Amino acid sequence: MSYLAHQDDVHSAALAPEIKMRIAGLTKKYGATTALHPVDLEVRSGELLTLLGPSGSGKTTLLQLICGLTAPNGGQLFIDGINKTLAPTHQRDIGVVFQNYALFPQMTVQENVAFPLQMRRTSRAESDKRIKHALEIVGLANYGHRFPGELSGGQQQRVALARCLVYQPSLILMDESLSALDRQLRENMQVEIKRIHRETGATIIFVTHDQEEALALSDRVCLMNAGRIEQIGTPLEIYERPQSAFVANFIGISNIVSGQVTASGQLASADGLMPLPDGFTPAQNNSSATMVIRPEYIELADHGGYLHGDVVETIYVGSETRLLIKLASGTLITARQSAGQKSRQLGERVFLRWQTSHARLLAG
Ligand SMILES: Nc1ncnc2c1ncn2[C@@H]1O[C@H](COP(=O)(O)OP(=O)(O)OP(=O)(O)O)[C@@H](O)[C@H]1O
Ligand SMILES: [Mg+2]
Repeated sequence: MSYLAHQDDVHSAALAPEIKMRIAGLTKKYGATTALHPVDLEVRSGELLTLLGPSGSGKTTLLQLICGLTAPNGGQLFIDGINKTLAPTHQRDIGVVFQNYALFPQMTVQENVAFPLQMRRTSRAESDKRIKHALEIVGLANYGHRFPGELSGGQQQRVALARCLVYQPSLILMDESLSALDRQLRENMQVEIKRIHRETGATIIFVTHDQEEALALSDRVCLMNAGRIEQIGTPLEIYERPQSAFVANFIGISNIVSGQVTASGQLASADGLMPLPDGFTPAQNNSSATMVIRPEYIELADHGGYLHGDVVETIYVGSETRLLIKLASGTLITARQSAGQKSRQLGERVFLRWQTSHARLLAG
């Protein structure tokens, strides 16, 4: 390859990351219910993407369409650039880990992990090598002889993951696969999945309804709502720049105040005038709008501020105290009081302000 050709390759690779999976207008109906409205989505090679959304938003439906467990009513699906819309599951090079890990109880861990290789008629020597490696990756190298009933929930979960990793799929789908675990185990498994993702370079699509889990794990989060994609972005983009009130509400705690944009460049709410956030575009003048401010950006003062209200609840959560502040209109605002800050009492009147760079303005 000439030096110039090589330069071109590098250039085009930088412009367009390799796309592992592309979905165009994929849709699914169950009778009169539209579980998935036409959806477009690109997942990059080696990416860990989470599908996040409330119950019934279409996460499992989308996952089932990707792995071929159900057929779409329209649209197309490409894996590595090849149309796989109607291909059977085994022709998609996909590994799936479901919430109920469905291990065979009468088989040992070793036999469970060997199962997909037997189905693929892999040689004995190659199988042994791969099983050993898969069990090492999930930290169960010494558990091969045990039966699933002799393992903890988290260990069973890791066997299910090893059984998926053993045939080295380049695309792994995981549906709520940590939700049955307790908090400590779940956090350990999140660290494990991040490590496995790094070590194997596999593309992972991970379904969860837990927003903290999505933010902790993902390269990008795809937030779903009522069968549609509401927003796709890095955890930081989703958290800091929600594009709708739904996203702001679903990801962490958000304070939302509605009002009208005034000609003088403020948002007039029932509780006071607030300066518009940085980057505001005048086209939204005189329209209804919603201001979104995260609790950590609310500054409390004894006077002044844009809004004021009374402390109606203090909630101690270990690392901080959350204050619920009720405005005259009844709107509740959540603020944080970290260690070292002036402590506020129930019933106390407080005045609220924030840096305009920390607020977001949404239409409507
Ligand atoms: N087999 C089915 N028959 C009829 N309706 C279905 C079927 N499967 C899913 N649905 C409906 O499609 C919608 C999306 O369901 P889906 O299972 O994809 O949601 P989800 O986001 O995975 O929710 P959860 O977080 O509860 O698992 C829901 O309204 C659901 O009732
Ligand atoms: Mg589901």
